[in-house]
Amino acid sequence: MSSEKTLRELADENGVTIGAGIPARSFRQYPDDPTLAQTLKREFNAVTTANALKMGPLRPARKVYDFDDADAIVNFGVKNGMTVRGHTLLWHKQTPEWFLAWDYTDDQLETFVRDHIHTVAGRYHDKVDVWDVVNEAVADDGSMRETVWYEAMGEAYLDKAFEWANDVAPNAALYYNDYEIASDNDKADAVYDLLERLLDRGVPIDGVGIQMHSLPSYQHSREDPEAVGANIRRFKDLGLDVQVTEMDVAYGPDEEFDDRLDHQAQYYRDVLEACLDNGCNTLITWGVHDAGSWLQNRYEVTADPLLFDENFNPKPAYYAIRDLLESRS
Ligand code: G3I
Repeated sequence: MSSEKTLRELADENGVTIGAGIPARSFRQYPDDPTLAQTLKREFNAVTTANALKMGPLRPARKVYDFDDADAIVNFGVKNGMTVRGHTLLWHKQTPEWFLAWDYTDDQLETFVRDHIHTVAGRYHDKVDVWDVVNEAVADDGSMRETVWYEAMGEAYLDKAFEWANDVAPNAALYYNDYEIASDNDKADAVYDLLERLLDRGVPIDGVGIQMHSLPSYQHSREDPEAVGANIRRFKDLGLDVQVTEMDVAYGPDEEFDDRLDHQAQYYRDVLEACLDNGCNTLITWGVHDAGSWLQNRYEVTADPLLFDENFNPKPAYYAIRDLLESRS
């Protein structure tokens, strides 16, 4: 099948959201090269702030917020009629240096987190459509991750975080976001149980984000699309919306490389199909083009995990998901 329509046009026609996570540096790095911006607004109808709204980059000092990078991405999304995803209000990683050195009491930490969420989610209350409120609260073995938030407030930190976000951004969809929860494993079960407890307690949570960093030789095996679909379905049956929030597909040195771009294309297509067939209508890739991927110079995996190559040429994966959307139009 060959289409003259862009991915964004086909996504819009199908009521599907196809987005990309944008590292703030990409916008600063290519100020005179509109390729990234042009590709983003032509091909995607959603954008996620990949780093700019994390506490570390956002808060260089205790009383200083630097919203420049986040504003650039959020305003770009609003201006171009895209769904804007804010990532993330609370995560144990990428916290500021000064925060790590701060000797706080539990009460001080709670007040600090409340003020942080009120400030950040409040600022964008009419611009950010979806928030990853809490990121990665469950450890790989399924136990609650022993973050500083958990140590100070117990599991109730999630309840509070969602309530604080809801105080100031009542119209945004509020998400819990995590990795390795798309297959049949202890962590996926534990996240399911956690979300069920939150819902039972009346916490204002709307959805769950499944990250889908598919990097087999780095940490896990590639998730079977059927299992992905089954997991999406059970989260949906819990009453939550589901989005694929951070997808990339990489290969290890021990894998067969000859046809990997075709295999990658098929995998993207299969995951999108599993998503759409099970009531999920959003797939976000973790970047636009390979040169901007967070996997450049990281781990023992190929750094070509996205839909566009280093020159913004569409790859087989781009055509595969575009064709899938066209076949469903
Ligand atoms: O911006 C600074 C730069 O000023 C400094 O000179 C340089 C020196 O190391 O670091 C730069 O910051 C880096 C930042 O990415 C921006 O490129 C950090 O070191 C680096 O740790 C950070 O990595 C990010 C990673 O989260 C942190 O764990 C990746 O870009 C980002 O893509 C990745 O995203 C996460 C999601 O938020 C949550 N899910 C998993 C996903 C992948 O780990």
